[in-house]
Amino acid sequence: MSTFRPAESRATPGELPFTEAIRLRHSTRRYADRPVPDDVLAHLLEFAARAPHLTDVPPRVTVVSGRERVGRILARYLGVYGLVQGAPHLLVGLIPEDSDRARLDLGYVLEPVVLEATRWGLSTCWMTGSYHPERAADEVERAPHEAVAATVALGYAREDLPARLHDGTIRRLVAAHRRRPLEEIAFSGKWGAPWSPEGADPALMEVLECARLAPSAENRQPWRFVVERGAELRLHLFLTGPSPIDAGIVMAHVALAGAEVGWNGHWVLRWGDPALSAMVGALPGVIPVGTWVAQD
Ligand SMILES: Cc1cc2nc3c(=O)[nH]c(=O)nc-3n(C[C@H](O)[C@H](O)[C@H](O)COP(=O)(O)O)c2cc1C
Repeated sequence: MSTFRPAESRATPGELPFTEAIRLRHSTRRYADRPVPDDVLAHLLEFAARAPHLTDVPPRVTVVSGRERVGRILARYLGVYGLVQGAPHLLVGLIPEDSDRARLDLGYVLEPVVLEATRWGLSTCWMTGSYHPERAADEVERAPHEAVAATVALGYAREDLPARLHDGTIRRLVAAHRRRPLEEIAFSGKWGAPWSPEGADPALMEVLECARLAPSAENRQPWRFVVERGAELRLHLFLTGPSPIDAGIVMAHVALAGAEVGWNGHWVLRWGDPALSAMVGALPGVIPVGTWVAQD
């Protein structure tokens, strides 16, 4: 099932819409020494367990708690990313098989949990690089076939100056605040045909804006949309690089924002389907992902 019903999860402080949580969320890499209350953690895990998913065997989300346990899992090298420090919890995303579809589905299931955490005043940071997958696998209960594909640091942001400077520096390094303009990621009808926000339906604008704000690894923003306006709205999603988790994340943003602007719809997963590329004339090498079909 792939339909979001955000109203069900509204029993949160402030009743923040997901479209607002999408605007508020940013990656935090320095955490305060303050655990998340047990009932909030339980709520997030339950939220993950009943989150809509796109494949038959959905990914699973579990949690590692305790700064020391989490610290052992987080990598101690810098690379392009700074070390994520002090997180009291780590959400661990497990996939049932090592495939692009399973990774995509993990993005689709885990990003709503990230946004739900944002609605509870929590901070997060997606990680596919800055941690040791084998150590994470050792720390969680899992079936032999399940693999760790991503983690998300979870806690309260440290607000002191050194922490804010650190987060600010990393954000500048990966230009985390930057997003491509809508005109660069959305095409009209055919690949490459300019799409203009001018005169566009406000609901469509909001959905695309929420897609644009999605987080992606190294802030690469690999998603491109071909907007097809017929009797119903269709958004065909493509990736400029092989990053299925990023695809799942942006698909979750579209579904959540769509539900809130009154455009209920569903994703049809078409990962790697050449017919989708041919239909819109997508460039060779661009990966077809799927189609969002909305009823307005
Ligand atoms: C799938 C994925 C993997 C990521 N991996 C890491 C990581 O390993 N280390 C890290 O510090 N940040 C990581 N990030 C965070 C991105 O750098 C960040 O989302 C992006 O720069 C946009 O910034 P924002 O999240 O503050 O909007 C990852 C994000 C995503 C979506």
